[in-house]
Amino acid sequence: MWPFRKRQTWEESGFFRDFTDWHSHILPGVDDGVRTMEEALRILAEYERLGIKDVWLTPHIMEDVPNTTARLRERFAELQASYQGKVGLHLAAENMLDSLFEERLERNDLLPLGTDGKHLLVETSYFNPPMGLQDILMRIKSKGYYPVLAHPERYLYMNEEDYRRLKTLQVKFQLNLLSPTGFYGKSVARKAAWLLKQRMYDYAGTDLHQYPQLEMLLNASANKNLCTFSFACPKEKATKKKGPRLHFRGYCGHLSA
Ligand SMILES: [Fe+2]
Repeated sequence: MWPFRKRQTWEESGFFRDFTDWHSHILPGVDDGVRTMEEALRILAEYERLGIKDVWLTPHIMEDVPNTTARLRERFAELQASYQGKVGLHLAAENMLDSLFEERLERNDLLPLGTDGKHLLVETSYFNPPMGLQDILMRIKSKGYYPVLAHPERYLYMNEEDYRRLKTLQVKFQLNLLSPTGFYGKSVARKAAWLLKQRMYDYAGTDLHQYPQLEMLLNASANKNLCTFSFACPKEKATKKKGPRLHFRGYCGHLSA
């Protein structure tokens, strides 16, 4: 009989050890993500069990969800006071490229992503680009920020040429880890596979909105493309048994920005 080799899940693969989650909706009660402090704490306890090192809380800010930076900072302080664990908590935002964003950019009323404060996580509608997308991206850069496009694989209107053009504009791409699992459908999974193959992603995040999504992610098969794209972080020492730890670009912070 052929030896049976079970496919590894992402949890079994150790993929999340020392992982930085660059995109999540865990800050409770501020958008369409986690509703209660209890659920947020339950997710953070699970993150700690998995060995996740840091998490960026990136609540939506858009005309339909007009969170203010002051309110988000206040809620973040409440979460920090309630959470006693080891996962590093950081506050940023997922900015819809709409008129509210333009006003906030003008006032520099923003919550940047990354400890250098130079990156802005942005998204557009899944169906249509905003008017003058390229101009908006240029304005972001002229204010001294790098745009990080959330889940580029999910935009129905974007094709390979669009992705290449955005890369020439130095837009950074952030993979939604649920996309390669087929959670958003086959077409999104195919686009994610192509972008992974082209090595166009700079960051990855769970985009977690609720606890069951985390369970789904952990039980999904470890993605071959993602593993191929992982590489040894040059700043971490190899151990005799296991060799250097693998990192997705941006996992460990040594290679981000
Ligand atoms: Fe999101």
